[in-house]
Formats: sequence, C-alpha cells, structure tokens
Amino acid sequence: MLNVGILGTGMISEGFMEAVKFVPSMKVSAILSRDLEKGKAFAFKYTIEKTYNEIDLLLKDKDIDIIYIGLPNSLHYEMALKALQANKHVIVEKPFTSNMKEFISLIEASVTHKVQIFEMNRVLHLPNFKVLKEHIKDIAPIRLVTINFCKYSRKYDDYLAGKDPNVFSDEFSGGALVDLGVYGVHLVSALFGAPQEINYVASKLPNSIDSSGILTMSYEGMICTCIQSKNSKSDPKIVIQGEKGSLIVNSVSGLLENVELDQSTKTNIGLKQESDGMAYTLKEIARIIEEKDEKAYLIELDHIQTVMSILDEARACAGIVFKADLKKKKHWFSKKEKAPKVKKEAKIKKEPKPKKEKKAKTKKPIDKVRS
Ligand SMILES: NC(=O)c1ccc[n+]([C@@H]2O[C@H](COP(=O)([O-])OP(=O)(O)OC[C@H]3O[C@@H](n4cnc5c(N)ncnc54)[C@H](OP(=O)(O)O)[C@@H]3O)[C@@H](O)[C@H]2O)c1
Repeated sequence: MLNVGILGTGMISEGFMEAVKFVPSMKVSAILSRDLEKGKAFAFKYTIEKTYNEIDLLLKDKDIDIIYIGLPNSLHYEMALKALQANKHVIVEKPFTSNMKEFISLIEASVTHKVQIFEMNRVLHLPNFKVLKEHIKDIAPIRLVTINFCKYSRKYDDYLAGKDPNVFSDEFSGGALVDLGVYGVHLVSALFGAPQEINYVASKLPNSIDSSGILTMSYEGMICTCIQSKNSKSDPKIVIQGEKGSLIVNSVSGLLENVELDQSTKTNIGLKQESDGMAYTLKEIARIIEEKDEKAYLIELDHIQTVMSILDEARACAGIVFKADLKKKKHWFSKKEKAPKVKKEAKIKKEPKPKKEKKAKTKKPIDKVRS
C-alpha cells in the first residue's frame, strides 16, 4: 500500500480524496494544513488518520511514501524539494513548477534521493485521450487545432475589489496560461510533440500576469491555438481539423466524454469512463512506482519537460514575469539545507532566451537531464 500525505485543504485536495477511492493501492494517511482545526475537519470528513500543521513533522513520518502538493503554484517547488530531500515520492499539481529552472532542480533532487516526481495531469491517461490520439490518422494531415478554455473566475471579482488572489498573483505564479492554458499545452504536446514556433499574446494585469491570452504553437503545415481566459467565459472545446475531417470534444479538463469524429457525418467515438481524469492518472502513477516502470516514468518526465519549455517561452514572449523567475538558484536553499548533489554532466545549460525558430526545437533528452 502506498501511503499519501496531502498538502493543503483546498478544493483540489477534495478532488484528490474522491479520485483516490478508485486506486486500491493508495491510501491517504495524513493531511497538512496551516490551520490545525481546518486540517482536523478535513481529516474527519475523509477519515484520515493523521493531521499536521508543520511540513517538517509530516516529512519525518516514516509511514508516508508519497506527498501530494495541492498548494498555490509558486509553492510547488519549495515543498516538492523538501519532500524529495526527505526521500518521499511527489505528486505535484499542475503546473509542475513556476519555470524550467525549478523543474530541472527537482529532477536533479529526485535522482539524488532515488525517488520519483509526477505531475497530476488530468487528461493524458484518460481512455478517451487514447481514442482521440488513435483517430488523428483518420483525418490527417492535421492543419488546425483550436482549444478554447475560458472560465470567468470569482477570484477576478476579488481582484477587482482590490484583493490579491493567488491565481492573479506574480508572487504565486498565477495567470490564465498556467491555470487553464496548461491543459491545452499538455494535449497539443502529447499529440504532436514540441512545436517549432511559439507565440503568446496576452491581456495583462499591471503585475504582468495574464488574465486572458491566445497561444499559438506552429508545426510544419499545422497551427495549434490555445485560448484561455479567467475574466470571460465560453464553452470549453477542442477542435482538431484535418484534410479528411475533424475531431471535436466538448471539454478540455474533464472526461473528454463526447469525442466526435466528423468526416461528413458525426459519430461519437468516446468511451464510457468509470471515473475522473485524476483517478486514471493516480492509477498510472501507483503502477509506475510499484512496478518500477522506469520507461513509462521517463516518458512522463519528457512530456512535462516539453510542457515547461512551452510555458516558459510563451511567458517570455508575452512579458509575464513571476517572482520565482527572479530568484537566483543559490537562494533556493536555506543555509541549513544543502543543495542536492548532482553529477556534473547532469547540469544542463541555461535555457536560451526565447527566439523564433524555423526548425523543430531540440531539447536535452530527459534521461540525460537525469543522468
Ligand atoms: N482549484 C481547482 O479547481 C484546481 C484544478 C486543477 C488544479 N489546481 C491546482 O491546484 C493547486 C491549488 O489550487 P487552488 O486553486 O486550490 O489554490 P488555493 O485555493 O489558493 O490554495 C490551496 C490550498 O493551499 C493552501 N494555501 C493557500 N495559500 C497558501 C499560502 N500562502 N501558503 C501556504 N499554503 C497556502 C491552503 O490550504 P490550508 O489553508 O489548509 O493550508 C489552500 O486551501 C494549484 O497549483 C492549481 O493549479 C486547482
């Protein structure tokens, strides 16, 4: 049995508790909240054995194998690093980290401490994502992909009222791209790999954070567009257009339930799925850890690396800067903590400043990053 300790009592941690019910080999044994009473209420609701309000105490708990991080984006790095250094596996919410530098630092730490780190991706392990992927060939060559994911956020009202909600904060690495656009980036890069050219045009708040934006990812003969907004709304939709027809899905982060193949008449090729995307992903994570499936793990990491490089480049293109981007690596470890020792060859060069490229990008293979 894999015992999980959860960080944070927000909505997403509640979602995790629902999803874990579908994974017989995982059990949530501990919850951490900054507020002990809130933590106890969460533990009571879900019958969780232990409640903590100090991360160091939770990490000392020898019964815990995996830490799930359901905290605001900028806290993913710091908490994941601590957890890896305590030899725990980690499942971090999306987006993986604030930027690529942090991604690499965590991969290095996971190698040093011989544990694994995953992102809670909701779509890629869904049976219906596999259906979508299989039917691309029926309508190929693909020419255009449009992913529209716009939700008016209550937090935008808070922002307008003068508050500083995490999702619109540069301190907490917020914004429409990393909150909603990331789903489309995952989908597009899982289907087509790394793009040749990236452009992001954003509507920005004074702190540089995007409230809405349009991301384009160009490939040979194909353009993929992700439209995301936190201050306007529309029905979520994925449209994949090829020369021989189109594939249409009326959800982006959900179950991808109705996958319509339109080649003159519309056919629903979607499967009935038993649970949500989080549950399918958790099952796969448990399987990878238990079966020590290094090959599948590397595929996961390689994919996240592509996603992180797209997000970094898109933000640079639109001039979106997180406080986390300004931190120098030497400041990432407190004086008491030692930076994880990494073999010299595992250090990879600084990410180049984004520039438009004509050829497909080459990235350092993930097994080299980890070696
Ligand atoms: N909300 C969603 O529907 C959703 C969906 C998919 C993914 N996610 C991802 O899940 C993560 C959390 O998102 P969220 O919207 O749930 O965030 P949130 O409500 O702002 O925070 C989640 C929890 O983190 C803790 N927390 C909040 N601010 C903190 C701070 N300054 N320092 C330490 N702990 C803090 C709180 O738990 P305690 O008060 O118990 O400490 C809070 O309940 C994000 O990475 C997001 O991208 C969220």
